[in-house]
Amino acid sequence: MQNEKIIFITGGTSGIGKETLKSLALTGATVVFTARSNEKGEEVKREILRETGNEHSAYLVCDLASLASVRACAEEFKNRYPRLDVLINNAGVMPQERQESKDGIELNLAINFLAPFLLTTLLLPLLRQSAPSRIVNVSSSMHKEGEINFNDLESKKGFDMYKAYAQSKLAIVLFTKKLAKDLKGSGVTVNALHPGVVGTEMTMRNVRAMNPILALLFKRMLITPAQGAETSVYLATSPEVAGISGEYFDKKKIVPASPRVYDMDVAEKLENIAKTKVLL
Ligand SMILES: NC(=O)c1ccc[n+]([C@@H]2O[C@H](COP(=O)([O-])OP(=O)(O)OC[C@H]3O[C@@H](n4cnc5c(N)ncnc54)[C@H](OP(=O)(O)O)[C@@H]3O)[C@@H](O)[C@H]2O)c1
Repeated sequence: MQNEKIIFITGGTSGIGKETLKSLALTGATVVFTARSNEKGEEVKREILRETGNEHSAYLVCDLASLASVRACAEEFKNRYPRLDVLINNAGVMPQERQESKDGIELNLAINFLAPFLLTTLLLPLLRQSAPSRIVNVSSSMHKEGEINFNDLESKKGFDMYKAYAQSKLAIVLFTKKLAKDLKGSGVTVNALHPGVVGTEMTMRNVRAMNPILALLFKRMLITPAQGAETSVYLATSPEVAGISGEYFDKKKIVPASPRVYDMDVAEKLENIAKTKVLL
């Protein structure tokens, strides 16, 4: 049965995002997701209808590697929908080589941090208007290995795929903490999470590059995309977390994040750089 909630998730077309979308569709909410093409969007929409019976899924074509596309997507969302109850910044990448976005920004930074930073900022007035509302940021436990390298934020001097990914995932947790502070008393909460180590396309691409024995052992540790979606769904819907903000979750529990996420000077400096880069 349809309810009044409107939920928007980035990267609903595969892996953890698609499973999150399906679980949320089962609640009867209107579920909106980003897709990189009409073809993919239509395919997932049909899958949602077939598997959940939810007739109220919709997609917006959006390339998170383009700031113009993120802006257009936020604009379209605001034109189409009167409210936004939950925004889930789920889409992410872990490129094996240094790549740049359409705007010439290193891809981890662009997709895992700047795109959700811009999308969230543009949708914030609607989220405030729709309060109580929630923002859920999908990070990774790898943020604990990360450091914000202000001298080479875009790995121009040397690229290490794990360092670049970890930095972008630390950036999104720092953004979560800072935003929670700014949103205090607004009725809008924001939390970050680690979904687990999940057998999705992103992981399997890296498994294929491992030596076969290591790959075999690693594959045994993986959880399914549906299990990987559980904490996102929990943070998006559970009454248990109403009013909880600025926390980092794993397996539906608050767990300690990197000690680095408490440095509000770093968070502020990063926010100012992000604003400049996305032209806010
Ligand atoms: N898998 C893990 O073990 C793991 C662990 C920790 C954190 N995470 C995080 O969990 C999130 C989901 O990852 P996943 O494992 O489900 O990966 P995935 O299966 O590769 O899915 C990634 C999603 O992001 C979308 N996406 C990628 N680039 C995009 C772009 N330029 N514009 C718009 N959408 C784009 C993809 O769209 P397409 O379908 O068009 O490719 C897809 O829907 C990510 O933030 C990831 O960092 C994953």
